[in-house]
Amino acid sequence: MGAIDFLPFWRDQMVMAKKAKVIAIYSLKGGVGKTTLAVNMAAEAALQSGFKTLLWDLDPQAAATYMLGRDDKHLHSEKARAHAVLEKGSGAEKLLVPTPVTGLDLLPADHSLRELDRTLFSIGKKRRLQKLVSELTEDYDRIILDCPPGLTETSEQVMRAADLILVPVIPSTLSRRALDEVVRHIKHAHKGDVALLPVFSMVDRRRNLHAAALATEPAWPMVPMASAFERMAELRQPVRLFAPSSVAGKAVASLWHSVDHKKGKERRVSS
Ligand SMILES: Nc1ncnc2c1ncn2[C@@H]1O[C@H](COP(=O)(O)OP(=O)(O)OP(=O)(O)O)[C@@H](O)[C@H]1O
Ligand SMILES: [Mg+2]
Repeated sequence: MGAIDFLPFWRDQMVMAKKAKVIAIYSLKGGVGKTTLAVNMAAEAALQSGFKTLLWDLDPQAAATYMLGRDDKHLHSEKARAHAVLEKGSGAEKLLVPTPVTGLDLLPADHSLRELDRTLFSIGKKRRLQKLVSELTEDYDRIILDCPPGLTETSEQVMRAADLILVPVIPSTLSRRALDEVVRHIKHAHKGDVALLPVFSMVDRRRNLHAAALATEPAWPMVPMASAFERMAELRQPVRLFAPSSVAGKAVASLWHSVDHKKGKERRVSS
């Protein structure tokens, strides 16, 4: 059974859930485009749908935090408290900061998150992240989680907290293998009770292997390889702010539309 079997489930869940609000961008593998996707999905939620949106950066590399314009001074400072919020189970609201994207707030990462796995494991609160996230859904229409790679205590918590998990998959055998591993894990450890949507990432259709992989899963959405995505780290903005009509801009707009096509009937951002 492949990951595609999860699709009908997540669609039902998105329609039925009163608060199908929490979307995690996760992969077992590193460097597959998670952060790029997370920042762009968060921007689309805010700007395309008009949702009040939060991006929670759970990765100590703090790449999403950097891409959304936050300077690196806070990373190592004494005020680096991203980990303390998860340790104590409170105080998330004190760390929220605005971003250059109207309607999008950021819960920034810092280097204290390097201890997160150990802490979450030792405190034994399996739903700590879920609890914090559900408190934040009072104030936000959509919460996007940018996750570090790996099958870890943090990723277990993410799988419990999320309504939907987007998994970027580079069209390659190893990426596909990693996805199958995650699907297997979710079925066993989470009783399949998580909606999961694979997204082909960094696609170059001129490459035979990529074209062949896409042909095997025609229903999966895809994001092409495009230079605008690479420029995000330099400009420190989502593509919608500097190249909305580019191939990259259109791809993320279309992906968001297919993930969450209900236009914001909920809380709209005024401005
Ligand atoms: N669709 C794309 N086209 C071109 N470059 C891309 C694309 N997606 C991501 N990249 C580039 O690939 C690199 C890795 O992307 P990103 O940081 O989003 O991956 P990640 O999965 O979050 O990595 P990590 O596991 O380290 O957190 C970055 O340099 C990014 O600019
Ligand atoms: Mg990342």
